[in-house]
Amino acid sequence: MTLMIMENIQNRIDYLRKELIRHNGLYYESNNPEISDSEYDSLAKELEQLEKENPLFASPNSPIKKVSGFVSSSFEQIKHSSPMLSLDNTYSQKETAKWYERIEKNLNNKNTGFTIEPKIDGVSASLTYINGSLTAGATRGDGETGEDITENIKKVKNIPHKLKVDNLPYFFELRGEVYIDKSDFRKLNEEILRSTGQKFANSRNAASGSLRQKNPQITAERKLRFFVHSFGKIDGKQFESQSDFLQYCRKCGFQLQDNFKICHSLKEIMDFMKIMINSRDLLHYEIDGLVIKVNSLQLQKELGYTNKSPRWAIAFKFPAKQATTKLNRIRVQVGRTGIITPSAILESVTLAGVTISHATLHNFEEIERLNVNEGDTVLIERAGDVIPKIVKVVKKENRGFFKPPHNCPSCNSGIVKENEEEVAYRCINPECPAQFRRHLIHFVSRNAMNIDGFGKAAIDQLLDRKKIQILADIYYLKYDDFIELDLFKEKKTNNLMKAVAVSKKCPLSKLLFALGIRHIGEKVSKIIAKRFKSMDALFNASIEDFTRVPEIGSILALSLKEFFENKTVRNVINNLIAAGVNMIEPETEQFGTQFDGKMFVLTGELKNRTREQADKIIKSLGGKVTSSVSKKTDYIIVGANAGSKLKKAKELNVKIIDETEFDVLTGKLSLIESTKF
Ligand code: IVH
Repeated sequence: MTLMIMENIQNRIDYLRKELIRHNGLYYESNNPEISDSEYDSLAKELEQLEKENPLFASPNSPIKKVSGFVSSSFEQIKHSSPMLSLDNTYSQKETAKWYERIEKNLNNKNTGFTIEPKIDGVSASLTYINGSLTAGATRGDGETGEDITENIKKVKNIPHKLKVDNLPYFFELRGEVYIDKSDFRKLNEEILRSTGQKFANSRNAASGSLRQKNPQITAERKLRFFVHSFGKIDGKQFESQSDFLQYCRKCGFQLQDNFKICHSLKEIMDFMKIMINSRDLLHYEIDGLVIKVNSLQLQKELGYTNKSPRWAIAFKFPAKQATTKLNRIRVQVGRTGIITPSAILESVTLAGVTISHATLHNFEEIERLNVNEGDTVLIERAGDVIPKIVKVVKKENRGFFKPPHNCPSCNSGIVKENEEEVAYRCINPECPAQFRRHLIHFVSRNAMNIDGFGKAAIDQLLDRKKIQILADIYYLKYDDFIELDLFKEKKTNNLMKAVAVSKKCPLSKLLFALGIRHIGEKVSKIIAKRFKSMDALFNASIEDFTRVPEIGSILALSLKEFFENKTVRNVINNLIAAGVNMIEPETEQFGTQFDGKMFVLTGELKNRTREQADKIIKSLGGKVTSSVSKKTDYIIVGANAGSKLKKAKELNVKIIDETEFDVLTGKLSLIESTKF
């Protein structure tokens, strides 16, 4: 190797070591990471590879040789009875299968079972019980020594202070994860933003920041939770397996995770992985993967440890929800209510398996709060089906401040600055073409009047040709108007004409949502429609009539009253009535909202219920059942002997679930093996 190349390798190794140490500090010490876990892992992998190939440059102090972590000087220190290690990661089902095969081989196929548990995105902690009394709580720290957070741990609500079971071990050190539920995290971030102008980047940071408070009273207010996943030193009791240990913890009063399973084959593991990938967004806490462990403690012992992690366990990490990328441009657009909103055009990046090139910026205050501008490198996040958002700036390139425009980018009229719950910039020209276009797009959308096939391209062309000038014009469009549009042939035109006609029968709730009343979303539209039953009743309702509805406060009531009193609105609605649009809410039963707007297809023979029963369950949870698979299908439920629909679903990458997974989604089944527990 030439000197030059060696020098380059040395430089790269130095750089990677420094970067990894810096990112460790940001993650563990400041709770303020700049990069996602998978970006961190790829830097670590590169360093590991370089060190392996170039032993000359290896160093015992390399960050990949140690368990990452941090012990702050603001807490006393606690030495762990045995090191708190980390887990090796895999990122695909294939890599996980390889790990499984290696384990089976190393154990000469005498292994009898694996456990799979969600990998909760929280902060690890160790709890020590002596004679059943909680005596110490510590963070992982650097793996050998942690911070003494005993008083804070005592404030975590579901951690028992005394264990009340017979045959308690004299010394019992439990390890687990402190975390915060998604809804509590959202609320906490709103409060923190209001009081400090800053937010936690994710729920893990929130849990860690809340746990490591000097004042335990603050920890008490943060709604933290704990779940047990492993143990350290135990004196005076022996367990056979991980599942026995967890079962005992449950008896002791610890809350365990529902989604835990014992598997006996690779297929069972893969099936469970699939269920959990699909239900990740439905869980009330964040998980970033699954942990698979050899169940027998004797076999765990045989497999042993590397200096960083156990050989008997592996973490299968889900695709990252966060990534860093460059913000190329801030685009300003007019929404359907005239609000001018900025959005970010990004350098494309893959996030949770999807290519992302746009992110929301909410409003101009958000730009100011983030101190973000064109050219900066940003951390973005995509959670569930939500549009990606910018979490924070990680590298500032543009020192200037982004300024809101003075004129509407569509009609050029002046912009008004309004103070709602947050400051909004609004174009108040009722004839602003951008607003009308946005309103049309919203009106025909799936959760509004659901006119399937009425895309943005069709709307733009019909607007250009002046075929739509007021909302009700949609219902007077003729065959000839559609057939002239780009990509419209006979079948598409006929289908769209049918969809337009069917949409006239939409229930009042859909129409209310479609009309885009300020502050009134889908849920409130349903509530009002159910309560008032007809458009006539809404026109005649007083503010008091509205506030009598428990879900409606004074802001919503005022918005509704203003809307139904407005002359233009009355005109719009009269024109819709003249076009034959339904103004009544039919009597239906709605039980839940879990599947709101989600589209299902049923195929094959179901064994636990009839098609009609499945249909009813889906509808009762707010979902829809259609007979054919399309790009819009969210889930296909597959029974025995499924055929062409399943094939099409696979081609279109639709989420495929069986009846058991369907039970999980509907919350009917806890996956704990009842025979074992
Ligand atoms: S078992 C030797 N099980 O993930 C470590 N860990 O990336 C045994 N974690 O430090 C840990 N959920 O804090 C285990 N179900 C689970 C877990 C879990 C989250 C954390 C844990 C660990 C980290 C490794």
